[in-house]
Amino acid sequence: MAPATTDYDVLLDLVRTRMSVRRLKPDPIPEDAVDRILETARWAMSGANSQPWEFIVVRDPAVKRQLYDAYVTINAEYIFWVEQQRVPELRHPSFQQPGAPEEQLRRLRERYGKGWSVAPALIVVLGDGRKQWGTVAGAHTFGRFMSHLTDGLANTSQLIHLAAASLGLGAQWVSIHVQEPFKRILDVPDLLMLYLIIPIGYPDVERRPGVRHEVKELVHYDRYDRSRYLTDAEAFDYLQQLRGQTIAKYATSYGQKPGEEGAGR
Ligand SMILES: Cc1cc2nc3c(=O)[nH]c(=O)nc-3n(C[C@H](O)[C@H](O)[C@H](O)COP(=O)(O)O)c2cc1C
Repeated sequence: MAPATTDYDVLLDLVRTRMSVRRLKPDPIPEDAVDRILETARWAMSGANSQPWEFIVVRDPAVKRQLYDAYVTINAEYIFWVEQQRVPELRHPSFQQPGAPEEQLRRLRERYGKGWSVAPALIVVLGDGRKQWGTVAGAHTFGRFMSHLTDGLANTSQLIHLAAASLGLGAQWVSIHVQEPFKRILDVPDLLMLYLIIPIGYPDVERRPGVRHEVKELVHYDRYDRSRYLTDAEAFDYLQQLRGQTIAKYATSYGQKPGEEGAGR
């Protein structure tokens, strides 16, 4: 008799097969899908169970377009220019392209295309920094947006991704670095944080296996094994290797052929 599938098997399969889906179909998703996803999200852990999250579900195509416009202009420009402060080899692969900065920005926007604006639904994750004051003072000594807020928001966002995957849907983590324009579009009150946008829809890409470190590379037993502690120079190498693994993918997504002048810079 085949062994019974345990909760652990189901969980592991779900977390291993979920992936970030950066190309979604515009096709409608089941009526109750977002409700089911949010039913999961509300069970996330948070400091002192303060549950500092709220969500805006965006289905209106005009609002989606406005949010996406803000993303490919204000948000993208900000991260592009901050990235210029790094040595070129360590810039995020999206920002290691040949050409003058203005030309790079133009091509970056072209590459964004309609992006996640076509997703049938967006879940915008908001945080109320006042609610985390339910937890110990040490966690929020320095302001409203401290780790007990963002840790809770990350937990609920992770559950949204897993719940979407369990329903056969794709989701993507769209980091928002400049909140204000998005808050204005959605009329979000000043005191709230606009943490994340998660587009939801059917995947328009093939599933591919994820890449993660093996447990034995991550775990120490009883005490920290200092022989495995990375020196600063090794940590630098680690980042360079990480770039090496992703850069070619980004370059080809910009239409460059592997080995072409400037490709993979
Ligand atoms: C804090 C955080 C920020 C992220 N920011 C972005 C982002 O801005 N854009 C994006 O496409 N993916 C983003 N991701 C997704 C990661 O790139 C992705 O989870 C990682 O490469 C592993 O791939 P997988 O999700 O397909 O397993 C983010 C994930 C996290 C947790």
